Amino acid sequence: EKGGYEHFMLKEIYEQPKAIKDTMGCRISEDGSHVQFEELNWTTEDVTSIGKIMITACGTAYHAGLLAKYFIEKLARIPVEVDIASEYRYRNPLTDSKTLCIVISQSGETIDTLAALKEAKRLGARSLAITNVVGSSISREADQVAYTWAGPEIAVASTKAYTTQLVTLLLLALYMGRLNGTLTADEESRILHDLTAVPDVCRKIFDCADEIKAMCSSFEGKEDVFFIGRSMDYGLAMEGALKLKEISYIHAESYAGGELKHGTLSLIEEGVPVIALATQKDVEEKMISNIKEVKARDAYVIGVVQEGDTEVRKTVDTLITVPASDNFVVPIMAIIPLQLLSYYIAVSRGNDVDKPRNLAKSVTVE
Ligand code: F6R
Repeated sequence: EKGGYEHFMLKEIYEQPKAIKDTMGCRISEDGSHVQFEELNWTTEDVTSIGKIMITACGTAYHAGLLAKYFIEKLARIPVEVDIASEYRYRNPLTDSKTLCIVISQSGETIDTLAALKEAKRLGARSLAITNVVGSSISREADQVAYTWAGPEIAVASTKAYTTQLVTLLLLALYMGRLNGTLTADEESRILHDLTAVPDVCRKIFDCADEIKAMCSSFEGKEDVFFIGRSMDYGLAMEGALKLKEISYIHAESYAGGELKHGTLSLIEEGVPVIALATQKDVEEKMISNIKEVKARDAYVIGVVQEGDTEVRKTVDTLITVPASDNFVVPIMAIIPLQLLSYYIAVSRGNDVDKPRNLAKSVTVE
């Protein structure tokens, strides 16, 4: 049932090209020029009437929501708030009939996410669920559903559910951007061109699996790791740190590149591994200064860059390269090497990768 892989997690990491392709499916017009979300079938009025979008979710799905804020605000120019479901439900949130509530959940059964959805509905919001399980409680509760087509995810650590959530959310942002008139047809087809290439080009990352595995030795005896990034890479840093923590049991923290000097830099000392995500071209120069800040304290820096990078490589100890792509598309690929790195570190520590201690796949208790 593991299809020849040693663990479900590894199998699911390698299933991502297919999962991403299935999730795009017929949501992109045949000529590749625009998004068509038949299950939503929104009008211009459906989008222009949205005052605010409220995204709620837990864990990895929450991290997908953090990236969706960048997607939607940049492409569709609608304000987006992202909140952890267990926080949202108890804070008397500012939600009304002009709010679109988007809940994200792989299982569709997470109790806090379901309760947040019910609370948003009670306050008059329209609702949309992004979930992987057809007929799940959350899919039944929401006004509308956009499924991720990742297939069953067995490993506790979420991988293909996350990347397919990102795909769905990016498609949604493009869809809303066009209906809202904030996105040009050119920009839409340019981003879609790069997105549709992902299932093929992301396989290049698997060609580097041995190199990534070899990086495990830099984590031997290390108990603290930092992930830094700016813009969408900050959201990815959070997901990268969660993946490492949950299966390798190494303490990891994620920081926005610009926040380091506001306190955390004091924790950086000789040999501390820092994973520096520098895939976002518009903030690359700023990331380079942040990398220099940690290098000056003798951190061991692994840079994650797009293919063709010439500058970041000069500042780091070792490099992970992901295929070059549009800024909005590259996070969908850049998480894959981080999933692999966490996986190999966890295996090297002899951990039960598919069932990490104290964790359950679906959290149906508060
Ligand atoms: C982490 C992980 C969890 C889940 C979270 C939400 O790898 O799997 O953080 O993302 O429990 O679960 P769903 O998406 O089923 O609501």
